[in-house]
Amino acid sequence: VKVDLGERSYPIYIGEDLLSLLGEKARFHNLSTQSPILIVTDVNVGSLYLSKTQSTLQKYGYTIATHVVSAGESSKCLGELGSIVTSALEAKLDRDSTIIALGGGVVGDLAGFAAATYMRGIRFIQIPTTLLAHDSSVGGKVAVNHPLAKNVIGAFHQPAFVLYDTTTLKTLSIREVRSGLAEIIKHGFIHDESFVSWCENNIDKLLTLDADALSYAIHAGCSIKAWIVSQDEKESGLRAFLNLGHTIGHALESVAGYGELTHGEAISIGMCGAALLSSRLGVASDHVFTYTEGLIKRFGLPTVIPERYATDAIMDAMLHDKKFRGGQMVFILPNSIGKVHIHKGIPVEEVRVVVDLLKEGERSHVR
Ligand SMILES: NC(=O)c1ccc[n+]([C@@H]2O[C@H](COP(=O)([O-])OP(=O)(O)OC[C@H]3O[C@@H](n4cnc5c(N)ncnc54)[C@H](O)[C@@H]3O)[C@@H](O)[C@H]2O)c1
Ligand SMILES: [Zn+2]
Repeated sequence: VKVDLGERSYPIYIGEDLLSLLGEKARFHNLSTQSPILIVTDVNVGSLYLSKTQSTLQKYGYTIATHVVSAGESSKCLGELGSIVTSALEAKLDRDSTIIALGGGVVGDLAGFAAATYMRGIRFIQIPTTLLAHDSSVGGKVAVNHPLAKNVIGAFHQPAFVLYDTTTLKTLSIREVRSGLAEIIKHGFIHDESFVSWCENNIDKLLTLDADALSYAIHAGCSIKAWIVSQDEKESGLRAFLNLGHTIGHALESVAGYGELTHGEAISIGMCGAALLSSRLGVASDHVFTYTEGLIKRFGLPTVIPERYATDAIMDAMLHDKKFRGGQMVFILPNSIGKVHIHKGIPVEEVRVVVDLLKEGERSHVR
């Protein structure tokens, strides 16, 4: 997939066993062999793929330093960023150096933000190892979290290229696979009804990581996101579509405490919420909600809010959302399957009703 952003355009290579081609690709993209490269990864991914990543680069004459963080969202913080800068300075990274993110979205966002800020910005390469990271590998959003809010310290920094070795996905837990698929289906719900149908017809293949099905799904997900990002790199309009399911989803993640719900689980519930809201506002037919909920369920993803998350806390978290501007609630809502729009001026009370309905998990009376 080519992400078309003028002089910041870059390719995403997708396929099996691509990791062994990393050295070659680094040369092809003119990465200097004179300047050290820093690979950032987490303990889980590091124990599986770090030595292979390192050796394929060393074969091509690169000097490698490594920085391994703890696994999980809590590493996406300013403290860890400082540690990466320490590693970069100790390894003598200079302005022609590159930081490589080897891992999921956490490592991608953290290492990407380090690359965006180290010496006012050095080159960055992504090697995503989760399905969810198909999303973070397109668009150049990089960030760390603040204790009060997710992703609020960040930048736009496009990678030089992305190497997506689908073989690495085989070691993911089924929960992480499902979570990543949620974001892939989201791209279908936003822009491509036929891709949604394709997902519906290939649930088993996707859940069992069939190589062809995975490549196709990652390609489709990245392409839809790349198309949107190329129209609106800095999120002034269209790019907001990508937040389908994220207003409620982010609120759930923060109420649950980072890490309790996976991101994909949270936005699965959020996509159900958006469809339900759309139905209640008379924008989309009830079918959109029942279809969305049914498909998400068939992927083994959650569609209801656990009772223990207080509605007040969820509403408070939503009102802190950085996309929430000027006293009105704004949501990305489906018009139909494969089509969404930005819906402004939604009464807070209506959203509250939807949150309560999502908790009941019993919604035969949609309107
Ligand atoms: N920048 C963006 O545009 C963007 C988009 C979507 C999500 N994100 C961010 O991505 C993050 C979530 O990403 P994630 O779901 O990939 O989480 P993650 O990076 O925490 O990975 C999930 C878990 O899987 C493990 N893991 C990763 N790859 C593995 C592999 N191949 N085999 C075995 N285990 C593996 C990790 O160690 C971790 O425990 C969030 O912080 C979110 O904000 C960013
Ligand atoms: Zn997301």
